[in-house]
Amino acid sequence: DAIDKGGYRHFMLKEIHEQPRVLADTLEGRIAGGKVLTEILGVDAVPLLEKTQSVHIVACGTSYHAGLVARYWIESLAGVPCTAEIASEYRYRSPVVKDGTLFITISQSGETADTLAALKLAKARGYLTQLAVCNVPESSIVRESELVLMTRAGPEIGVASTKAFTTQLVALALFSLALGRVKGLSEKRYASGVRQLEQLPAMVAEALKLDERIQAMAERFVDKQHALFLGRGTHWPVAMEGALKLKEISYIHAEAYAAGELKHGPLALVDQDMPVIAVAPNDHLIDKLLSNMEEVRARGGELFVFVEDGVGRGIDSENMLVLPASGEIAAPVVFTIPLQLLSYHVAVLRGTDVDQPRNLAKSVTVE
Ligand code: G6P
Repeated sequence: DAIDKGGYRHFMLKEIHEQPRVLADTLEGRIAGGKVLTEILGVDAVPLLEKTQSVHIVACGTSYHAGLVARYWIESLAGVPCTAEIASEYRYRSPVVKDGTLFITISQSGETADTLAALKLAKARGYLTQLAVCNVPESSIVRESELVLMTRAGPEIGVASTKAFTTQLVALALFSLALGRVKGLSEKRYASGVRQLEQLPAMVAEALKLDERIQAMAERFVDKQHALFLGRGTHWPVAMEGALKLKEISYIHAEAYAAGELKHGPLALVDQDMPVIAVAPNDHLIDKLLSNMEEVRARGGELFVFVEDGVGRGIDSENMLVLPASGEIAAPVVFTIPLQLLSYHVAVLRGTDVDQPRNLAKSVTVE
């Protein structure tokens, strides 16, 4: 048992620290000469991408959060309309499928009952084709899908997903950049995205060095009942994933809000007992996010801020951690790391069963 954990106290911590390697593995052989190799999406990838007029992404849990990030990327990099939806909703409504729509499932296990059922339904609905982003090659979802883009996270034992999520983001970034290239994404932005992917394992290794400081931060959460996570753009789903991690393993009630919605309700909850965690990358929304954070501070809320190098000035919070500068593709992955570590350390301090939280299963194979 101790050997399997590779000297780490829990599988989850081991899996968090494996991320630089599994991200590199997921990129291996998929980028060459500054370009995403479109063959990774099959032999007819280019005509397929050309025909793609819209994208429907369906998934559950953490994988759904990866889909929400991809939705921003696909629309912004490729100009292709994209929806991301929970499989248990998709399968029981009547989705409208326009010509030229690509169906994507995202699943670590490839066995989630709702995602598999959604895929089976989609196959009868006139999509261009179905692409699975999956971590288990011999799984049902892989077998049922026409196209497959494997994540190479290796076996994930901790019930709370960590390395599967970040490798899903990398696979979806490869897809978004490949689609963008076909749809007229500028050479400059494309090259920058590819470069960010190449630098990502090193940036994640850098972010992992914050572990000790995050452990100290975690002590402030031990006796809390609630927590609020804030983000904007691609970092809204990153905040959602941070909140999910915290509730799954520490049993603290956590919610994520798009920071712009703060005034429409959650601000009423903010007081000294409500820690607010803000994810603040250096993007076009940073000034707006900074003013949202000011609103929280003015109400006496305790702010915990993860900021990208270069935007820290002007933030008045003793609980501020600076992350390596990263960019539109890499930032959602890099900012996920401290949120994983925060929930891990809070859970350890609260004495929960980190790898096997109560009432949850690693793979939900029944409805
Ligand atoms: C369960 C797991 C989550 C996972 C979700 C979807 O809830 O505890 O970690 O994100 O299922 O699983 P999948 O294997 O389809 O990604």
